Amino acid sequence: MDKKIKTDPIIEQKIDALLAQMTLEEKIGQMSQVRHFDDVTLEDVKNKYIGSVIHTQGPLPGNDATEWQAKFTEFQRQALSTRLGIPLVFGVDAVHGQNTYEGATIFPHNIGLGASGNTELVAKAAEITAIESKATGFNWVFSPCVAIPFNEKWGRVYEAFSESTEITTEMAKASVIGHQGEFFSLMATAKHFIGDGATDFGVEGGNTSLTHEEVIQRLLPPYRAAVDAGVGSVMASFNTLNGVSMHAHRAMITDILKGQLGFDGIVVSDWKAYSRFGQNAIINAGIDMVMAVDGDLDMFQEGVRNGVLNQEIPQDRIDDAVRRILRQKFRLGLFENPYPDPKLIEKIGIQFHRDIAQQAVRESLVLLKNEKGVLPLKRDAKIAVVGEFGDNSGLQSGGWTVNWQGTTENYKGATTILEGIRKHASNEVIYDPTGTADAADVDVAVIVVGEAPYAEFFGDVDGPMNLFQLTLTETHQNYINAYTEKGIKTVVVLISGRPLVVSDQIQQADAFVAAWLPGSEGDGIAEVLFGEYDFKGKLPHSWPKSTDDYQEKYGPNFWQSKPEPLFPIGYGLRYKTWSSSGQ
Ligand code: BGC
Repeated sequence: MDKKIKTDPIIEQKIDALLAQMTLEEKIGQMSQVRHFDDVTLEDVKNKYIGSVIHTQGPLPGNDATEWQAKFTEFQRQALSTRLGIPLVFGVDAVHGQNTYEGATIFPHNIGLGASGNTELVAKAAEITAIESKATGFNWVFSPCVAIPFNEKWGRVYEAFSESTEITTEMAKASVIGHQGEFFSLMATAKHFIGDGATDFGVEGGNTSLTHEEVIQRLLPPYRAAVDAGVGSVMASFNTLNGVSMHAHRAMITDILKGQLGFDGIVVSDWKAYSRFGQNAIINAGIDMVMAVDGDLDMFQEGVRNGVLNQEIPQDRIDDAVRRILRQKFRLGLFENPYPDPKLIEKIGIQFHRDIAQQAVRESLVLLKNEKGVLPLKRDAKIAVVGEFGDNSGLQSGGWTVNWQGTTENYKGATTILEGIRKHASNEVIYDPTGTADAADVDVAVIVVGEAPYAEFFGDVDGPMNLFQLTLTETHQNYINAYTEKGIKTVVVLISGRPLVVSDQIQQADAFVAAWLPGSEGDGIAEVLFGEYDFKGKLPHSWPKSTDDYQEKYGPNFWQSKPEPLFPIGYGLRYKTWSSSGQ
């Protein structure tokens, strides 16, 4: 599947010609990425020579895809009306489908794709994400996250495929190729470079205290694979590496990523990095484009201008940054085709896309326990679905769904777990959202428990927000208690962005399924529970036994502390063979 993009001499000549004409202000403008709303007016796009526009949390560009496209078309017209007519590139946090657009197809988060182990499926999911992102006006996605999480306390574990370097590397390659396609009509981003998931105690933006060798051996391979697959951009990380801010880490960004790995695309900063991580030091370290958001724009543009004028930043560094940005704009074909394609709009959320997402849901499920023949469910059994997660597509989808931190409501186009179960059952299914129903004649309870949605910072366990824990809430534990105490057979479906400490609940339940964060196609779960398809998923992380496993910097399976996990990475039962061999 290797598809390294080669330097094109014609493009390089066009860049030379443009660079020769550009003023310093125009160059700095190209290096500026802004939000489409409060950071800029349409006039600013022209007067400040903006290079890129981002959509993430905040006001929507419109009510539907037609309006989104119209909004970005308007921005593009402004950019094209500048002296040199350099087009904008539009970026979006589409990290499991075009998740910022309600009604798009939402895939399982990467942890679920990691469990599927199916690189072809990962490539297809990425291809569909690219189509739906382009349909809403974008040509750049900030995905895939190729972190290697060392500690489940990190609130972004689910954005990563696996704790295994090898699995992550394979998945990263497939994802980049899928997103960018044969013709590079959309650019992917490998993020966050580097050490985001390996911080001490799993703190978002904390310090990663690994030796250089460990970084190269355990964390760099997915980036090498992404670069070899032609990834268009790499995003710098919030963390420090042995005390040095990654945004200002010249040795890693310039010497290793651009030098040794031969990356010729854009290194984009993360949020508001200029004011947060060392101002001109980040440019000198090799950051090419800066998310100059949230009030940073003028300060960034002036700061860099002064930096060049007083020779703090070499002119060559600016030219290199702009060359990389223009190179990707040429490769994307933006000079010939700057506007979104209205014909793509009808593809958003189409059945074929949902079918692939549903396949991804099925293949991501990992069966951890199955006793007393409780699974597969019998169609004519009297089934109760228990817990508020059982009938809520927001809760089943995790962070980065509709909103940055996710949603706790149902959203457009999605199906819930209960809906899927109802489609398969021949008897009426009881829905017991609070675990308090009488349930006297119930044969089997499907109890859906898990973590409420979260994203970066909010989801860290023991972080400053202190909103999440590595165990189930008492309320969710009580759902399981209530049904096991009644002597009813139980199937527990766990919705979570990471392995949780659920040793007691696994013991209590007759069957236990790790379903990760399935996304919009919740009814894919029923197809496997009823045995229409076998389980295929294998744990992409070792599964912790107890919260005591988290006394050290890392979770189980890492060298500092090596408590035996409850289940090893790769574990997962099947109907057919009842083995964990995955055969
Ligand atoms: C996150 C990135 C994301 C960016 C843009 C940051 O806070 O760390 O992953 O792409 O915001 O929304």
